[in-house]
Amino acid sequence: MRELHSLLRRQLKKCGLTSLDELPPAWRALLAAVDDAYRQSDVDRRMLERSLDLSSEELLAANDDMRALFDASPDLFVRLAADGTILDYRGGSSAVSFLPGGAAVGTRIQEVAPESVGARFREAIARVRRDDATVEIEYGFADGGRQRRFEARLLPLRNRQIMVIVRDITEAHRAAEALRRSEQRRRLHFQQTPLAAIEWNVDFQVVEWNPAAERIFGYRREETLGRHAWELIMPPATCTPGTDFARNPMVQTGDNPITVENRTKSGQRIVCEWYNTLLVDGAGAVVGMASLAHDVSERTRLKERLEQAQRMEAIGRLAGGIAHDFNNLLTTIIGACDLGLARLERGMPLADELHDVRRAGERAADLVKQLLAFSRQQVLEPKIMDLNQVVAEVEKMLSRLIGEDVELVTRRAASLGRIRADPGQIEQVLVNLMVNARDAMPDGGRLSIETANVELTAADELPDYVQPGSYVRLRVADTGVGIDDETRKHIFEPFFTTKEKGKGTGLGLAMAYGIVKQSEGYILVDSEPGRGTTFDLYFPRRYEEQPESDATRPEGTQEGRGTVLLVEDDDAVRDVVTRSLEISGYTVLPAADAEKALELAGRHAGAVDLLLTDWMLPGMKGDQLARAMRRQRPGIKVLFMSGYAEDAYARKGVLEPGTVVLKKPITPSVLTSTVHQALSGGP
Ligand SMILES: Nc1ncnc2c1ncn2[C@@H]1O[C@H](COP(=O)(O)OP(=O)(O)OP(=O)(O)O)[C@@H](O)[C@H]1O
Ligand SMILES: [Mg+2]
Repeated sequence: MRELHSLLRRQLKKCGLTSLDELPPAWRALLAAVDDAYRQSDVDRRMLERSLDLSSEELLAANDDMRALFDASPDLFVRLAADGTILDYRGGSSAVSFLPGGAAVGTRIQEVAPESVGARFREAIARVRRDDATVEIEYGFADGGRQRRFEARLLPLRNRQIMVIVRDITEAHRAAEALRRSEQRRRLHFQQTPLAAIEWNVDFQVVEWNPAAERIFGYRREETLGRHAWELIMPPATCTPGTDFARNPMVQTGDNPITVENRTKSGQRIVCEWYNTLLVDGAGAVVGMASLAHDVSERTRLKERLEQAQRMEAIGRLAGGIAHDFNNLLTTIIGACDLGLARLERGMPLADELHDVRRAGERAADLVKQLLAFSRQQVLEPKIMDLNQVVAEVEKMLSRLIGEDVELVTRRAASLGRIRADPGQIEQVLVNLMVNARDAMPDGGRLSIETANVELTAADELPDYVQPGSYVRLRVADTGVGIDDETRKHIFEPFFTTKEKGKGTGLGLAMAYGIVKQSEGYILVDSEPGRGTTFDLYFPRRYEEQPESDATRPEGTQEGRGTVLLVEDDDAVRDVVTRSLEISGYTVLPAADAEKALELAGRHAGAVDLLLTDWMLPGMKGDQLARAMRRQRPGIKVLFMSGYAEDAYARKGVLEPGTVVLKKPITPSVLTSTVHQALSGGP
């Protein structure tokens, strides 16, 4: 038999029993059961003890954990009694005071000042009790002049206590506030900026579209969101479906804007400047692009026009300079030919050759004239004139020339206003326009010439450099091949021609341009390839009376008598003119400039009948010399020579009435007849 449980053994000993054998068998079974119970209770106790050991260890560990958490937490934990009395604090960085001053252990949290904070807690505590649930509140107070903000969560505890967890949200609140304000500002800019502000995702779909974008491109925001750039405003070349976003030419970012031709909802093409910024996420991956754009179409147009005007001006100056030199050369060439021919008898050797040289010289002189007309440096003889008269004359002259398959229609307005221009020049302009029109219609067509009085107002669709006012319009229209945009940019430039070699020199429209400008008018062209061309020439309408007709020049050579003071800086010209005048019988006093001329006249004992001077002289100019000479010799007649109206041009190409100017190149016969007339006529 096994040994009995020690406790049972002790009990039996107390009763004087040392062995179970002394007991009757029935008792033995009972004692065995008691022994079992003792043993079982041992097992139970051991288990209980072990479990108690364990749980207290776990409790200690959990407690440690809790303390660590409390200490590490930036939040403040406050335990409140059921009536709100602060029982204890835990956690929270000591530098930060989470509750207003005066909230100490033993005080009731709902009674702390300021009242706004206290009231908050009072209300929250009541709610926690009522609902037995967590309640959140936010409160703020000034701490040493700094406005602070907190968030508190109140949790019901078992024993009617309340745990308050307070978190300092001052920084977060400030950041959120700053973000809100910056967002507000951004929205304001976005809404108010005159620039189109658009945001795209990487599929080039619109994410944002501001009011300026609505104005510039014509699409309302709602119409654009989620749609692709190429469906809306991008020309296919810039942005095609499926192109890699980062490689798209639109996605050039950086400081410099890119210029793109866009289209608007109505299909109009506009030029825009774009400033793009890639948008990246936190990891640096491109998520889209923010763009700012503005419409620079008008600026581009103005710039192009300015460049065009500057180019014309530069070419004009160049052409004028060349023409000036050529006129002197041609005066010499033609003059020398004439002098030579005068010495030769008809049929003599060299006479034919000299005639050829002279003819070539004259052709060159014609070209120079057109160049000068273009550069607006030609001496014009403007007068009040009737455009209808020129149209009638040119029509008579050209009607046979323009060919049978071209129908010529002229419409001359009745009571057409007068204009102030040089009729000879206007005639040349019209002839060129008509010849151009005919050339543009090799297979026939219709050429119409029309004059009209027109009132231009600001409302007319004309370039903005055109001044409103009363004009006389000359319209030359054809149904020919038309002019494309690229060609149109150049047609007024000298030597620009699309005609084959030998057919055109490209001076016609250049000359027309110069003459119309010098007459203070405008020349506009409207054309479409294949549908014909219309040139409109506008001349300011004049209401003055027709001045007396200018002196007519007799032809032929006269026997001259008298002394001519010749002032010309070009040696060759001076030489030819001197010889021509001497042959005709005049006495010539040649001088190279004004100063020498005055000195020469001062020294000359006899009479000086005529001052024949170049207009453009080095130093003192021709007109100044004339005034000085008139003071020295009051009766002296004056005659100017010029190939180049630079000075006259400065006065808009208009000469003082009564001034006679011999236009270079000067042929000996015109020279002598003009000199003769000046000397025999009035002052
Ligand atoms: N009515 C028109 N229709 C089509 N093109 C024209 C017309 N008028 C002018 N042009 C174009 O303008 C160019 C310049 O004309 P412009 O009169 O200045 O020179 P040109 O006729 O070629 O030569 P030039 O007049 O000196 O003999 C022409 O070559 C032609 O291309
Ligand atoms: Mg022409």
